[in-house]
Amino acid sequence: MAYRVLVIDDETGIREAIRMTLEYEGYRIEEARSGQEGLDKAGRTSYDAILLDIKMPILDGIEVLENLKTQRITAPVIMVSGHGDVHTAVECTKRGAFDFLEKPLNRDKLLLTVRNAVRQRSLEEENTELKEKQEKEYRLVGDSELMRDLKSQIERAAPTKATVLITGESGTGKELVAREIHRRSSRSHMPFIQVNCAAIPEELIESELFGHEKGSFTGAVRKQTGKFVAADSGTIFLDEIGDMSLRTQAKVLRVLQEGEVEPVGSATVVKVDVRVIAATNKDLTEEIRNGRFREDLYYRLNVIPIRTPPLRERKDDIGILGQHFANLFAEEHNKHPKKFTPSALKALQDAPWRGNVRELRNMIERLVIMGPNDTIDVTDLPAEFFRAATDIISSAMRLNTLQEFKDEAEKAFILAKLREHGWNVSKTAEAIDTPRSNLYKKIEQYGIKREGGGGAFAPPDGDA
Ligand SMILES: Nc1ncnc2c1ncn2[C@@H]1O[C@H](COP(=O)(O)OP(=O)(O)OP(=O)(O)O)[C@@H](O)[C@H]1O
Ligand SMILES: [Mg+2]
Repeated sequence: MAYRVLVIDDETGIREAIRMTLEYEGYRIEEARSGQEGLDKAGRTSYDAILLDIKMPILDGIEVLENLKTQRITAPVIMVSGHGDVHTAVECTKRGAFDFLEKPLNRDKLLLTVRNAVRQRSLEEENTELKEKQEKEYRLVGDSELMRDLKSQIERAAPTKATVLITGESGTGKELVAREIHRRSSRSHMPFIQVNCAAIPEELIESELFGHEKGSFTGAVRKQTGKFVAADSGTIFLDEIGDMSLRTQAKVLRVLQEGEVEPVGSATVVKVDVRVIAATNKDLTEEIRNGRFREDLYYRLNVIPIRTPPLRERKDDIGILGQHFANLFAEEHNKHPKKFTPSALKALQDAPWRGNVRELRNMIERLVIMGPNDTIDVTDLPAEFFRAATDIISSAMRLNTLQEFKDEAEKAFILAKLREHGWNVSKTAEAIDTPRSNLYKKIEQYGIKREGGGGAFAPPDGDA
């Protein structure tokens, strides 16, 4: 696709010359004969670059530039100056012009400057696209009471420098919360450095965190900057802190207390200004009891405790989360957006979700890629989804008699099979090898209701 360039100049000869040069190189040119016409055109169309003459009657180039900026037109502007107003052109670059050219225009210089301008523009566009994508990827979705509470805790904690300890089961969004706190802090334009304490081998973690001098140990062939120094003025996210050794904990404690880092093998200390966010899915008080976590470090970290609730405590979020992921992956994999049927939604809400949001997310990605239809129905959900046999057994332990247990297991089995066969009683009866009439009897006996607005089952004879 050709780049579009707008040429704003009151002199026909100049416009023509620029047009000829640039069109020959494949650019698409539009012309404006006055500052006002240029502004109108720039407001209507998105150009990849604008060439703007400084000296024009009524509305001159400087005023046009200012107007473009206040209108938030982001196309790079190249000022074109006659001789005598070069200093004005320089002044314009300070006010947001991309570059300037002097008349008489030199063909090669013109081409080079325009090429640089459009290149910068496409880089900027890529950058904002990337940012938008990241923002979508890391957005905390959910509107349940617990989620709203979590968001308001984030809002209150974010602007401070206080240390935050995020706890919660695996896959509940701890990393997302950490990023959100950073994004909403005054440090957001400074680095966010993530360290996965569980993934780094014990021998290396100290030099990862604090850096090392060249030759301080075998293999230290060059000086390395530690993560704490890299995060200076920003945020360090100590993920899986429950997996950190006691020895390293002692060193981290020192950084928190003194605000100083001591690189391995170095005699000097480095002052750092770092906000610390830590996360773990372990119960740290339990770890303290077992002598695996330092109590003093725990209190240092736990200034603001934030807990990410598991999905089973906020079932009302499952619908929006599911739809959010369905849209996200449809876009990513170039698929049609899919909607859930009410019975599929109900089944999702009833699932145990041991893997929490991560498990939900992965399942939906699979469904978006593999599902042949524009809707996701209960029958599209994976079979293992309904095979929560161990769940039935463990929850049945509260029962007293064998009969009660048999009933409970039978009910769960029938429910799962009905879902699997889209609530078609005939098909289900056939699949589980029982007469249809018997299945109806069981449905009635256990008070099984069709999920998702389907209402009651048809009477045995009316069933297709
Ligand atoms: N509220 C939410 N809204 C949108 N996406 C979420 C939400 N919570 C979690 N996710 C997504 O679920 C996945 C797991 O989240 P995350 O990595 O933050 O979990 P975690 O608590 O750090 O888990 P672990 O303890 O295993 O490291 C990520 O892909 C994340 O984007
Ligand atoms: Mg995590």
